[in-house]
Amino acid sequence: MRPEIIRNDFPILSEMINNKPLVYLDNAATTQKPIQVIQAMNNYYMHLNANVHRGVHTLSQNATNEFELARKLVQDFIYAKEQEEIIFTRGTTESINLVASSFCDKFLTKDDEIIISELEHHSNIVPWQLAQEKIQFKIRVIPITQSGELDIETFKTLLNNKTKLVAVAHISNALGTINPIKEIIELSHHKGAAVLIDGAQGVPHMKINVQDLDCDFYAFSGHKMYAPMGVGVLFGKRKYLDQMPPYHGGGEMIKEVSFEGTTFNEIPFKFEAGTPSVSDVIGLKSAIEYINNIGFDLIQKHEDFLMHYTTEKLMEINGLKIYGTSKNKAGSISFNINNIHPFDIGTLLDQLGIAIRTGHHCAQPVMKHYNIVGTARVSFAIYNTIEEIDFFIESVKRAKLMLS
Ligand code: ALA
Repeated sequence: MRPEIIRNDFPILSEMINNKPLVYLDNAATTQKPIQVIQAMNNYYMHLNANVHRGVHTLSQNATNEFELARKLVQDFIYAKEQEEIIFTRGTTESINLVASSFCDKFLTKDDEIIISELEHHSNIVPWQLAQEKIQFKIRVIPITQSGELDIETFKTLLNNKTKLVAVAHISNALGTINPIKEIIELSHHKGAAVLIDGAQGVPHMKINVQDLDCDFYAFSGHKMYAPMGVGVLFGKRKYLDQMPPYHGGGEMIKEVSFEGTTFNEIPFKFEAGTPSVSDVIGLKSAIEYINNIGFDLIQKHEDFLMHYTTEKLMEINGLKIYGTSKNKAGSISFNINNIHPFDIGTLLDQLGIAIRTGHHCAQPVMKHYNIVGTARVSFAIYNTIEEIDFFIESVKRAKLMLS
């Protein structure tokens, strides 16, 4: 299947923006949704809508079946060992907050340490700081090198017997760096520490096998992989999830409630209090089917091509600097031109119908590392074409001329 054909599945890509055809290159923020996903959600509300796990009536049972089939599909998609290890959340942020709250409550004391890194998205920094306020453990930070890679030698010196958890991104949303997570997981396990991978930018671009990685937690969002906003996943190994206390209290997550005390449901339900966003989960199921149908071989090949082609073309522009120059990159390219403010580049490109993201990308420590206020970031999906990249490059050149 060619990207030119795949594009036809995405109704929004035919929109005109500022009287120009939309060129959507802000996929790391959120991807667009194919018609199959939109229709699956419509179909749910038109033919299936009922609350799940609650009714004996047929509609509720049908909705429950679809919901649990989605869980099974997610399990297969990331090669989890058990279906119960898949917890539906609102997104990566909620998945990480869940672990930061429940794992830290259960397993950390003030004498313990966790390790995160300098290239994390704020959602893999702030939840740990909130947990730290309660428990007073120490947070240590893996620095990045000038090329935007994790300094693994320093990481080895940070790891010690007090390290209870290491939480790092699979792929940096601000720099595009693919972190050596397998090595990080092995090193951490060697010291007895659990590992959480923020997979928000990983899952859309490559096949994930959580058993092969041997990570203890893997968090991701639906909306960055062609599924709707409002649904995400936390994969966690049963050995941890079984022991962790619930994150939210409410319906669905209990076994028995009385005023003398409450007992909790088994996983995954223990972590799914309240009515879930069933239509979004159905949308996620459809998005996974969509991705499976295209296949990661094609997705990766095409996106790698776009990454290399765009990098080469950008590097030909005088005064343009790319942040994040690792050989292992996926998804995004961040850049600045001379001292032009990235907002100005983004605003001019928008006038030409091109959507990119500008700013600090919710990764202020990365910006601080490079001593910049922000970057312009272009990020790819399976539907982007070489013609779009050519137009983007020409437009960046025009913007540079106008703003210099
Ligand atoms: N985390 C998303 C991004 O990088 C929103 O744009």
